[in-house]
Amino acid sequence: MNSTNLIDFIEQMPKAELHLHIEGSFEPELMFKIADRNKIKLKYKSVDELKSAYEFNNLQEFLDIYYAGANVLLTEEDFYDLTLAYFTRINSENVIHTEIMFDPQTHTDRGVKFGTVINGIKSAQEKAKAEFGISSKLIMSFLRHLDEQSAFNTLNQSLEFKHLITAVGLDSSELGNPPSKFKNVFAESKNKGFITVAHAGEEGPAEYVWEALKLLNVTRIDHGNKSLNDNKLVETLVKNKTPLTVCPLSNIRLKNVDKIENHPIKTMLDKGLIATINSDDPAYFGGYMNENYKAVFEALDLSKDDLYKLTLNSFNSTFLNTEEKSELINGLNDFFNNYDYQDKL
Ligand code: ADE
Ligand code: ZN
Repeated sequence: MNSTNLIDFIEQMPKAELHLHIEGSFEPELMFKIADRNKIKLKYKSVDELKSAYEFNNLQEFLDIYYAGANVLLTEEDFYDLTLAYFTRINSENVIHTEIMFDPQTHTDRGVKFGTVINGIKSAQEKAKAEFGISSKLIMSFLRHLDEQSAFNTLNQSLEFKHLITAVGLDSSELGNPPSKFKNVFAESKNKGFITVAHAGEEGPAEYVWEALKLLNVTRIDHGNKSLNDNKLVETLVKNKTPLTVCPLSNIRLKNVDKIENHPIKTMLDKGLIATINSDDPAYFGGYMNENYKAVFEALDLSKDDLYKLTLNSFNSTFLNTEEKSELINGLNDFFNNYDYQDKL
């Protein structure tokens, strides 16, 4: 048995990521490089000036900056570079499987072709599989601040690339844009064979989580924090084993949780919810997967069993088939059987 400390243990542990916006992994240095290449002038003079704008009081303040940053992405090469940079980073953090969200409307509304976006991402997925052995799936997210017709247009554009996309999702400004607004396009997405997920209960109320379950038939809830305000909903999520893709640093940076010591991840586990740890928009929120794990383990009284459960939950909640899941879970079990950690942080 090899012994280490908790930090090394978290860093070395094989992990899966289930909630990651590829546009949210756009690091300032790469943003400036691509802006330069495309002869686009950013509003900020330097990387440091841009980074100093990353202070958010709520989701909308973040989204305004996130969409502005995404505006410099124009070519297939841009989407390839963005996605490969994310894979390179998570490879160094021992993330071995990831399910990546992308927002086609953010790009097609600026005149970028759907194919340009997805072909760039796809090439990076192939490279990451070949070079790092990282497997991945794609989730096409509809922007909920736009209307349902726009989501239908996006769904239609995606059909030619259906073989590359596993699920559809719902993101952007939650308050005032309930899941019910998208029930028809989600029904049609299901008909076409897509799995469905949705952001719900990040800023919006528990009622939005009910709607995501009942009207969008989602397999997972992205965030879901506000579910804790509704006991009946918690009971339903536990009974149906519906995973929550929780994003601790995002919750702090968007002020959905006041401080990390008050993060509800432990409460979620104790209530029997299938909680998982994810990074959401790591370039904007101060860390990728390992930083998210470390933040909650530093602040909360989490045990080795909790660490195992959170990570096992992620592997079990992927869109992989049973055989593929077993292979990853066997690797996790080997890791836990062969390594231990001594001290708290
Ligand atoms: N798009 C990118 N990150 C998001 C988040 N945390 N919530 C909603 N939409 C998003
Ligand atoms: Zn998100």
